[in-house]
Amino acid sequence: MVAFTGRCSGDKMLTVGLVILVWILYFKMSWPDSTIFRPPAPRPASKSASVSTESPSLLYSFPQELANLTHLLFWPPTPGDGGNLLASTSPQTSTYHLRGPAQASYALGGYLEAILVARDYRGKPKTHGGDLFRAQLLGPDLKAGVSGDVQDLENGTYLLSFPLLWAGLAQVQVRLIHSSEAVGVLRRIWREKRATVDFRGYFRGPTGTEETVICNVDPQATGATGPICQYRDVDSGELWFCAQPPTLPCNSLIWHSSGHYLNVTTLHDEALLAWKVTDKVLPQGISPIQIRMGAPGNSNLALPPRRPCSPGLPAAKPSGFYHRDVWHSLSCSSRSFSTVDNILGCLAGRIVYMMGDSTLRQWWEYLQHTVPSLKPVDLHVPYQTGPLMAVETNRGIVLNWRAHGWPLRSLRTPVASLHSVVRELGGLAGGPRTVVVLGLGAHFTTFPPSIFVRRLAGIRAAVAALLAREPRTLVVIKLANTGYKSVYGSDWFTLQMNRLLRAAFSDLRVAFVDAWEMTSSLALPDNIHPSQLIVRNEVDFLLSFICPT
Ligand SMILES: *[C@@H]1O[C@H](CO)[C@@H](O)[C@H](O)[C@H]1NC(C)=O
Ligand SMILES: *[C@@H]1O[C@H](CO)[C@@H](O)[C@H](O)[C@H]1NC(C)=O
Ligand SMILES: *[C@@H]1O[C@H](CO)[C@@H](O)[C@H](O)[C@H]1NC(C)=O
Repeated sequence: MVAFTGRCSGDKMLTVGLVILVWILYFKMSWPDSTIFRPPAPRPASKSASVSTESPSLLYSFPQELANLTHLLFWPPTPGDGGNLLASTSPQTSTYHLRGPAQASYALGGYLEAILVARDYRGKPKTHGGDLFRAQLLGPDLKAGVSGDVQDLENGTYLLSFPLLWAGLAQVQVRLIHSSEAVGVLRRIWREKRATVDFRGYFRGPTGTEETVICNVDPQATGATGPICQYRDVDSGELWFCAQPPTLPCNSLIWHSSGHYLNVTTLHDEALLAWKVTDKVLPQGISPIQIRMGAPGNSNLALPPRRPCSPGLPAAKPSGFYHRDVWHSLSCSSRSFSTVDNILGCLAGRIVYMMGDSTLRQWWEYLQHTVPSLKPVDLHVPYQTGPLMAVETNRGIVLNWRAHGWPLRSLRTPVASLHSVVRELGGLAGGPRTVVVLGLGAHFTTFPPSIFVRRLAGIRAAVAALLAREPRTLVVIKLANTGYKSVYGSDWFTLQMNRLLRAAFSDLRVAFVDAWEMTSSLALPDNIHPSQLIVRNEVDFLLSFICPT
């Protein structure tokens, strides 16, 4: 579970030391974030606070795909507005128009292209890129929608491209989520702050005394001036830090909860991120278009030939679209599981382990509510972090969910039930009946990228080991979805998190559920906890991997 001491043989210590050194040098060079992991600084001696020199999850070989963060997290430079808000990108003056001449109707299976010109509040065209626009092609009467590709030409113009995937009416909609100037604020804070939130650790002594301190992913973000308690997960090497309580020992930490959102912005930053300039629809630049059917007898959808869903498939772009409220993947033949019997038939004999955040708990809740015979087991844990379990005894189905462990913004929850994903994965034998679903991201946007990268390196190694001992295990990665629009969590961070998630697992035989696009393709308001319609489609896509035919 959690160790308080760094146990390390001399040889291993040396190897670990070298790995850390190489890693630090490498990351210092390729991603200038100020909170890259450094070996814990010497701390005041304390009997119970350990001073471990062992590395975090670097006992694993670092995946090549995650190595070049500069490359992976590239976003066009955003020079800022020089203090003049009127010079930031405005959703009111920015416009888009068709790239070519308008046509009376468009061929199914083709593309619609448009040029977007970003302008500031004075109407002056922007000369640099970096704005976060999201574009959609919507077919409201058909409950259809697809997210458009937005290519940043880095000179104030953007190329929009929409595949024409259904016959009927379609309408372009473009939103400015954050101006490039606002993205500049997010990026600066992401790189420079060790944490934008803190947590509470609750200690209890033998006589019932309670002491509460600040905890965080980084010793300096605990605000401690004295000794620090360091908690090291023995399975993952992950570290967690709390200020040492005044009288109680480090090993009396019993409870965990979120703390405060820290004030990390200036008034100017806040103006750039204010709700009245965030997530705003641009004036309509293109009239609704008519997409005509293909040859008689052809389908009214432009679905390419698709293979049955299986892990390890290359990603498609876009990854899919909605039609009549049903998600059609473009990378494999996703299926609908519209009846309870369909779902039961697919899950029969399976044990599903879901580990992640509350957006993944929604999958557990959806299944448990939709399938009456899938009964929740009362584990007497009324905590947001679970663990949750539901069983169907006739069909032999077990459905588990638990939170992914520190860092977690949650109500007060027992530390003992915060298991790391690596620890849980290490305890699974795997096999054709085992399904693992991971859904992380939303709780990592409040720290620099190195924190998530380190976590993913450990989880990736554990997934690789699981697939090596039992290749028939199905591992599904749920990407993070759209929702938050603030300095603590924003679509911009989420996009970056998803790049890291994709990179971390790109060479493993895992399946991805692109929750980002599944929450970006309909005319529904963004919500960190998406509506049931979207959750149903996400779960149907999961089931498509479990039961491809
Ligand atoms: C990382 O990527 C950047 C940008 O693509 C490139 O300039 C740099 O040389 C790369 N660094 C390494 C170490 O590969
Ligand atoms: C922006 O860049 C694109 C691609 O290089 C170019 O075609 C276009 O003319 C440029 N637009 C402006 C306003 O400079
Ligand atoms: C946050 O800090 C800035 C100065 O850095 C200050 O201007 C602002 O008022 C503070 N906001 C709050 C809510 O305390």
